[in-house]
Amino acid sequence: MSEKKIASARITESSSQLLQELNNSLPFDKVLYREDIEGSRAHAYMLAEQKIISKEDYAQIERGLVEIYEEVESGEFLLDGDDEDIHMAIEGRLTDKIGDAGKRLHTARSRNDQVALDFRLYVQKNTQKISDLLLLNIETLLKVAKENTETLLPGMTHLQHAQPINFAFHMMAYVSMFKRDYERFTSSYERNNYSPIGCAALAGTPHPVNRRITSEKLGFKAPTLNCLDTVSDRDFALEILFNISTMMMHMSRLSEELILWSASEFKFVQLSDKHATGSSIMPQKKNPDIPELLRGKTGRVNGNLVALLTVMKGLPLAYNKDMQEDKEGVFDSVRTALLSLEVLNEMIDEMTVNVENMNKACMIGHLSATDLADYLVKKVGIPFRDAYHITGNVVNVAEDKGVDISELTLDELQSIDNRISVDVVELLDNRASMNARTSEGGTSTVRTKEQIESLVSWLKTQK
Ligand code: ARG
Repeated sequence: MSEKKIASARITESSSQLLQELNNSLPFDKVLYREDIEGSRAHAYMLAEQKIISKEDYAQIERGLVEIYEEVESGEFLLDGDDEDIHMAIEGRLTDKIGDAGKRLHTARSRNDQVALDFRLYVQKNTQKISDLLLLNIETLLKVAKENTETLLPGMTHLQHAQPINFAFHMMAYVSMFKRDYERFTSSYERNNYSPIGCAALAGTPHPVNRRITSEKLGFKAPTLNCLDTVSDRDFALEILFNISTMMMHMSRLSEELILWSASEFKFVQLSDKHATGSSIMPQKKNPDIPELLRGKTGRVNGNLVALLTVMKGLPLAYNKDMQEDKEGVFDSVRTALLSLEVLNEMIDEMTVNVENMNKACMIGHLSATDLADYLVKKVGIPFRDAYHITGNVVNVAEDKGVDISELTLDELQSIDNRISVDVVELLDNRASMNARTSEGGTSTVRTKEQIESLVSWLKTQK
């Protein structure tokens, strides 16, 4: 390994093997080759437009960069050399190919604005990919919801049976979370859609650059405002990490429910064989490894977020080499998010909903007890606290008889409180109870359908 691979004009001794091992980011930042080439092409174009380099040099640089791109894509240029990072590797290759013109590419540019650009382009592209996959998941969940607006299941608090709801309503809770996630990604995209290139090392450049040209060519809204901030800023990376963590936290909660619902105690859903694995010793087992992994990977992406927050928290302006630590966590979280979203979508699409078992579970736990208390308040005029106690007595009687309160006869109910009349019987039915919750955003089938329709039309506006 020779010292010329480390970017320096004033270091004369060759750098130690250990320094290079610690310092070199090529092994991981090589994934930025597309963005680096795209950024360099735009920068060279601007330099020529501004007459900072000649048209001839630009033509050579452009041709050289396109060739390098093809060489990387075809595997001819492996990016496994001892260059310090992706920027040096590509610039070095360019100069090997085209000579002096290649050496002019870095005019009016520093690796500080170059890496800020490459990384931002990477984050922006992947923000869009994640957003698209979120929409796909929302679409799939909406499909499951549409099929299950009448499917009763016990709604829970404290993981205890609480009130009857329908499965579509439950799915729509997750759709609401993923919609917020989508909105977080798109708003981050907008907030960060400004071009860093042309900021040079930290203070701008005396060359007559035109940052609007590069910004427009690269698809940004405008150049960033302040160069010192721009080369120090990794908020865009932190935002994608936070957005991924929040999204994965939602996915993890859904996964946790899928794991529970797959257990023999529930059997509410059955994951397709494609998404389950066996045990090496227990031949009868079918394990929900996929949702378990999605739940587990949430820990990993949270770690990446905390790591970068910690790297950034004490850094003086502007660039510090600590910031090279920004990339691996983001690459990892992005890879994890993309794969997880694809897997989740397939798993939800192919899972079987056991309507019967969900329904049966509603007969455990006296789910319509609140309806009885509400009836005594609304129809009989009993103060809620008293109604609450009467209902408690009814529940005790049902427990003694080993039935659900919806199975008690009118006689049995009236022997507890004679103000209870015949209309109570149908009210205690679980479906009636679910459908009674007609307040806006409530679980009744009518209100659930309203929620589905609202998000179906929202989805249309996003595509
Ligand atoms: N590989 C470096 C990084 O990822 C590029 C920027 C280097 N800039 C510098 N002044 N050493 O942060």
